[in-house]
Amino acid sequence: MTKVASTQQNPLETSAEVLVLGLFSDLPFVDQISDLKPITELLDSLVEGKHFEGKIHELVPLHGLSGVNAKVVYLLGLGEKEKFNTEKAFSATSLATKSIGAKQRGQVVFALPDSLLSDYEKVTSIQGAYCGCRGQDIYKNEKSLFPVEALSFYQFDENLVLVASLTAQGIQTTRNLVNQAPNMLFPESFAKQIKKLGSESGFEVEIWDEERLRNEDCGALLGVAQGSRRSPYLVIMRHHGGPSGQQPLALVGKGVTFDSGGLSLKPSDAMLTMKCDMGGAATVVGIMEAIARQEVPTNVVGVVGLVENMPDGNALKLGDILTAKSGKTIEIHNTDAEGRLVLADALCVAREQNPTHIIDFATLTGACVVALGLEVSGLMTNNQELCQEVLSVADTVGEPAWQLPMFDSFGKQIQGKIADIKNVGEGRWGGAITAAKFLEEFVEETPWLHIDIAGPAFLDSPKPHLDGGGTGCMVRTLVEVIRNRS
Ligand code: BES
Ligand code: MN
Ligand code: ZN
Repeated sequence: MTKVASTQQNPLETSAEVLVLGLFSDLPFVDQISDLKPITELLDSLVEGKHFEGKIHELVPLHGLSGVNAKVVYLLGLGEKEKFNTEKAFSATSLATKSIGAKQRGQVVFALPDSLLSDYEKVTSIQGAYCGCRGQDIYKNEKSLFPVEALSFYQFDENLVLVASLTAQGIQTTRNLVNQAPNMLFPESFAKQIKKLGSESGFEVEIWDEERLRNEDCGALLGVAQGSRRSPYLVIMRHHGGPSGQQPLALVGKGVTFDSGGLSLKPSDAMLTMKCDMGGAATVVGIMEAIARQEVPTNVVGVVGLVENMPDGNALKLGDILTAKSGKTIEIHNTDAEGRLVLADALCVAREQNPTHIIDFATLTGACVVALGLEVSGLMTNNQELCQEVLSVADTVGEPAWQLPMFDSFGKQIQGKIADIKNVGEGRWGGAITAAKFLEEFVEETPWLHIDIAGPAFLDSPKPHLDGGGTGCMVRTLVEVIRNRS
């Protein structure tokens, strides 16, 4: 695990192996980090020769620089000061550590223009640096990316560094859970990992096994699970940061550890990455870990439904009728619309915790990816104020998110013929919204926000600043939302 700290030592004199100098393109470099005075001429000559201009995401490694103690100096462009934001802060520092982490490294010091950055820009730059050198090669004997041993940030506030690094640890937990292979991470092993994380980071864990799920009438979740050899679980996580008796915020996650589609089998190409279908549950776990480690003074409860969607002999059939925990009956029209079935019961369990609000996370629909692309989370709500709060924080911390409408006409599409509702709309148009309308049936009057992360939760191939696989999207937004509420 990377040690993360703040440092006051002059960056030119650092004993660290690597020094990263982050610089804006449109201000004199020495005005940004005053300690660079002794190497002014050198930096100027680099600019003159167009070797380094400070453009965003420009990264120039220099070895054995005179006047600098570190073995390697990376000049990292931050672009124009006015165009800088948290999203760029994350991608710039992660780009740097992704490159630095190509080899095993000791200590890395970041000297960024401290006085020119907002606190959130500092926080996300720390998180980016932490995540950039961590990848999806978890089963490789010879790694291609090495987490740096220690990360220090020149002149950053100590507490800010600590809090940012604990959120980064949560993001990393989410990424790591998503990256695990579906024969390694399945409902039972997922529940065990949550239990372990809970005791390490300080949140309480309650595990419901199949028998308990039966006793609790979780017929929708159990319906999905019946097509798999693996038993389903539901896990309740509790962070008691606030006064006892304070109503919690509830977080709910879709934890389909593999989505084959069931009898409505997916084509092979679409199935290949479906280990990522527990991304919503992994998001909840990452958030719980971060707020527990930070001891955020408010109550939060997390509920994740863990199942595998498989086409076993006992699998759900088209036309089957399930009775959800709430008592609502559901016609199955497509067994690949399984996430909403799992969430239907998980949302009811969350409601029993008497929450003020519910926020759910799910890799729920391909339709959301069609609507918003691979990078944007889709938000759907029955409570505009809650949605606005999350959208605004997402913008502040640099995570792309966009709201989709919840018009009544979409709800009409999921009315059933022989049961209360059916698990798909009429045709595929607006599929992200008809899915949300289905979920809305199970939250009653509780203020609720649904976040469809089918696009951004998983990267099929690496980006320049982040390895492929799980991204941990929306963890930093939600940790911030929760910190703001406390
Ligand atoms: N897990 C998928 C959604 C998904 C698609 C996640 C792409 C990540 C990337 C979900 O269970 C699903 O299969 N949804 C169907 C719903 C349809 C059958 C109504 C879809 O989107 O096609
Ligand atoms: Mn599916
Ligand atoms: Zn799914």
